[in-house]
Amino acid sequence: MPPSAAAPSPAGSLAPQAEIPNDLEAFWMPFTPNRSFKKNPRMITRAKDMFYFTPEGRAVMDGTAGLWCTNAGHNREPIVAAIQAQAAELDYAPAFQFGHPKAFSVASRIAALAPGDLDHVFFANSGSEAVDTALKIAIAYNNVRGQGTRTRLIGRERGYHGVGFGGISVGGIVSNRKQFGTLLAGVDHLPHTYNRQEQAFTKGEPDWGAHLADELERIVTLHDASTVAAVIVEPMAGSTGVLPPPKGYLQRLRAICDRHGILLIFDEVISGFGRLGFGFAAERYGVVPDMICFAKGVTSGTVPMGGVVVRKPIYDAFMRGPEHVIELFHGYTYSAHPLACAASLAALDVYRDEDLFGHVLRMEPVWAEAIHALRDLPNVLDIRTVGLVAAIDLASRPDAVGARAYEAMDRCFREHDLMVRITGDTIALTPPLIISETQIGDIADKLKRLLTTLH
Ligand SMILES: Cc1ncc(COP(=O)(O)O)c(C=O)c1O
Repeated sequence: MPPSAAAPSPAGSLAPQAEIPNDLEAFWMPFTPNRSFKKNPRMITRAKDMFYFTPEGRAVMDGTAGLWCTNAGHNREPIVAAIQAQAAELDYAPAFQFGHPKAFSVASRIAALAPGDLDHVFFANSGSEAVDTALKIAIAYNNVRGQGTRTRLIGRERGYHGVGFGGISVGGIVSNRKQFGTLLAGVDHLPHTYNRQEQAFTKGEPDWGAHLADELERIVTLHDASTVAAVIVEPMAGSTGVLPPPKGYLQRLRAICDRHGILLIFDEVISGFGRLGFGFAAERYGVVPDMICFAKGVTSGTVPMGGVVVRKPIYDAFMRGPEHVIELFHGYTYSAHPLACAASLAALDVYRDEDLFGHVLRMEPVWAEAIHALRDLPNVLDIRTVGLVAAIDLASRPDAVGARAYEAMDRCFREHDLMVRITGDTIALTPPLIISETQIGDIADKLKRLLTTLH
């Protein structure tokens, strides 16, 4: 069972505080309006289980598992101990030409979680690197199997695949693309799957929209299948504001890819490691992709790690030629970093021992009920829930798109002791998987109080 749900005692919140810097200028903060933040910072110095703590010791409920990553909750003893022990035993080892045992153990554990014959794991350090690795493997695989004309990559509107050039090229979030020039050549996009008129206030996967997968046929016809290497989608589009796949959509994509010899890549950086109640969303949806990108929950967010799980025939296609020659010219200094491997093994143990993926499935209806109960509050246009994920779309202020959700996020933190994420005017919620029924109610109550007074 998940650990105790209660907020830590006041004594706990008086633990030694981190020193607060008096100059915030040097840090160029990512995906943050720097000037607003530095005028009025939202600072965090400590965390435990479901809570963050401000420098003053105020407990803030984590409604976002950090950035959708601390799935086991914060500062869990077994994970902390594993990282500490690993740092003392083997701080670093190269993964080029040498190996350390935990790298092989984690790869086996992740492969065992993945469906079908997805049984080889290439390690990176983030979701962005995982995505670029998968795209490169897709193109290189076609090259080694004698289909080198297949270089085209197909993503989806509103998709988020990290911030590398590969990821933003196949991604479909306009703000993440428009400042960065011409991006990768030879990329096309499927339409996104959201239609408010047809899908508003859906719990789980919407009934409407499977036919949108057929757009892949049109794109393949336009370019010819012989030029297309891979299609990449998030099974559940997260960062764009939570778009669960329409029922049957992913199955249709799989069938079209099979018909044309195109690889299907699932970007499970968010949906992996229990977020939707399974090791990977591929299992929830009964669709076996050719590659799965992962990161975040693989170490419960404690040490950076990402990677790609690939199907056996893809790995096997590279395993030929002279045995002293490198088969894939790709890798990172920190691929399979010992601290990340130790953290991952411990996190995977916690997921298994506490049956956290099962807990998500048990909590899913409670979560959906609690969040959908907010539907009639002012400015709420739509609510979507799936697994332990939710999005609340707010009406935009006519002259300031994004301002209402920004205020919601800020006031949640300062006035309601709750951390939420926002994208545009959408509030996204993705708590650690250890959340209790009572804490789900607490989050809904806090949001109700906020939304009632947000103008
Ligand atoms: C689906 C998906 N892919 C890739 C990424 C990028 O991961 P990272 O920020 O670790 O590079 C994210 C991050 O949120 C994501 O949601």
